[in-house]
Amino acid sequence: MIEQTKTGIEGLDGILNGGIVKNSTTLVSGNPGAGKSILCLQYIYNGVEKYDEKGIYLSFEEDESDLREAAESIGFENWQEHVDNGDIKVYDKQVLLRENDFTSSLDILLEELEDGDYDRLVLDSLAMFELFFENEKEKRTYLLKFTDILSDSGLTTLMTNEQGAVFPDTEIGLENYLTDGNIYLIQTPTDTGVNRYVWVAKMRKQNIETDIYPMEISHGGIDVHENASAFSMMSEEESPI
Ligand SMILES: Nc1ncnc2c1ncn2[C@@H]1O[C@H](COP(=O)(O)OP(=O)(O)OP(=O)(O)O)[C@@H](O)[C@H]1O
Ligand SMILES: [Mg+2]
Repeated sequence: MIEQTKTGIEGLDGILNGGIVKNSTTLVSGNPGAGKSILCLQYIYNGVEKYDEKGIYLSFEEDESDLREAAESIGFENWQEHVDNGDIKVYDKQVLLRENDFTSSLDILLEELEDGDYDRLVLDSLAMFELFFENEKEKRTYLLKFTDILSDSGLTTLMTNEQGAVFPDTEIGLENYLTDGNIYLIQTPTDTGVNRYVWVAKMRKQNIETDIYPMEISHGGIDVHENASAFSMMSEEESPI
């Protein structure tokens, strides 16, 4: 049987038929403001709070205090306590860029991971990570090496990706093929605000619900309404008529 890592977001774990495949790497894709960072914070926070699993948060966008503020403002009150006692380890951009060249920083980080006892990892964001590589080949080679080491270190990883869910208008990046899963967060404007949706487009080795489900962001984080499938990307094919 395939072992799973629960996100702790009930509706999302339902759509995933239990959770994310353990030791896999999943992209969390979506446009700015779609909720990628919140999902990732919640994944790491729930790991500690609900499942006694330690987490690592690599952030190229925000520093440690920004992350703390983001976590506390969404209601993850014990975030800093977990950081202080080592259950959550934050590597922000200052730490990640402390060596002269980026891959040296990463190699140091990977060594630390290999003998660590962490279960979950977040990389926010892949776009920033990729900026440090000069060409596609180098990027691809390093990304493969990186995901392999994460997996071998017993980590189940989420990587955020600034990619909208509209195909074929958006070019499908290489990273989509290198990773095991792809979760899209989608937001559409309404008269009063936004409607938010989640779509699990791919999860290797796992039977998933591929419909698109409504979700909300509020105090306490993301909530997915698993019983209210909004629509299906496959509806035309599946339609009996
Ligand atoms: N307490 C809250 N209640 C309701 N919505 C909130 C709350 N806190 C944040 N949000 C919403 O969450 C969104 C931000 O989500 P998040 O920072 O995770 O986006 P993102 O996908 O990481 O964006 P970016 O690509 O810019 O990093 C905001 O647009 C805001 O509308
Ligand atoms: Mg973000």
